[in-house]
Amino acid sequence: MNLLIELKNITYQANHKNILSIPNIQLQAGEFLGIMGPNGAGKSTLLKVMAMLDGISSGEIFYRGQAVPKGTPSLELRRKFSVALQQALLLEGSVFQNIAIGLKLRNVPKAEIKEKVLLWMDQFQISHLAKKNVHFLSGGEAQRVNLARAMIVKPEILFLDEPFSALDFPTKIKLMDDFKGIIKGSGTTTVFVSHDLMEINYLTNTLAIIVNGEVKQYGPTQRVLEHPNSATSPFLNEWKKFYPLSNNTVKPLSIMR
Ligand SMILES: Nc1ncnc2c1ncn2[C@@H]1O[C@H](COP(=O)(O)OP(=O)(O)O)[C@@H](O)[C@H]1O
Ligand SMILES: [Mg+2]
Repeated sequence: MNLLIELKNITYQANHKNILSIPNIQLQAGEFLGIMGPNGAGKSTLLKVMAMLDGISSGEIFYRGQAVPKGTPSLELRRKFSVALQQALLLEGSVFQNIAIGLKLRNVPKAEIKEKVLLWMDQFQISHLAKKNVHFLSGGEAQRVNLARAMIVKPEILFLDEPFSALDFPTKIKLMDDFKGIIKGSGTTTVFVSHDLMEINYLTNTLAIIVNGEVKQYGPTQRVLEHPNSATSPFLNEWKKFYPLSNNTVKPLSIMR
């Protein structure tokens, strides 16, 4: 086991309200951790806390066994993480320029940047869009650029908040399938927030279900989905109505080609 991040007894408050209260959650290297729960459960807040984009009210965060000091994390630490959100926050310019940004900021030589951008555009099947202005991309294309931009810097941890939620169904299925192959190939440790059972079931190995700011169930994804507990079943059973079930088992989603 190779522990990358551990949260211990953390709380997060906003407006005198407890948004998160988590005794312990761990992220192992190579893991694909899903964070699932109803709207307003605290998923995005937990992601921001784990990615050290937001401070906590109390508790401790450990990175590779070392307590992370309070306050803004070092540039060195922040550069180990990539974050991609539901809305691809692309900058003015072309697809190529957007994917190149992370390497440019790291002063990587131009020739190497070009080589890597070409590689990652190929991985995400957007090579034909290289010169296109990002304003004119479809939602699916923009999300491919967003993910390529996050992956090109070889993050130690990739943090994703509902990256597929705004996409229409066929676009989502195709991108999820491509993305799964890319993550498998690279072995990138990933934290993936979603409210969607299908996405969680298809992509993640480990699952934390949060309700009202608390982790109500945590373990291997299949086990959690097949055996919800009294706190998670009201939420999970709603979802299961829409997915093929037999003997309380969520069958793996079959992706149609
Ligand atoms: N900065 C903030 N100030 C006040 N309330 C907040 C703040 N951030 C989040 N919240 C509240 O915390 C709860 C959890 O939010 P969020 O993490 O975005 O949930 P989720 O991503 O699961 O939908 C919500 O009730 C939200 O309104
Ligand atoms: Mg959210």
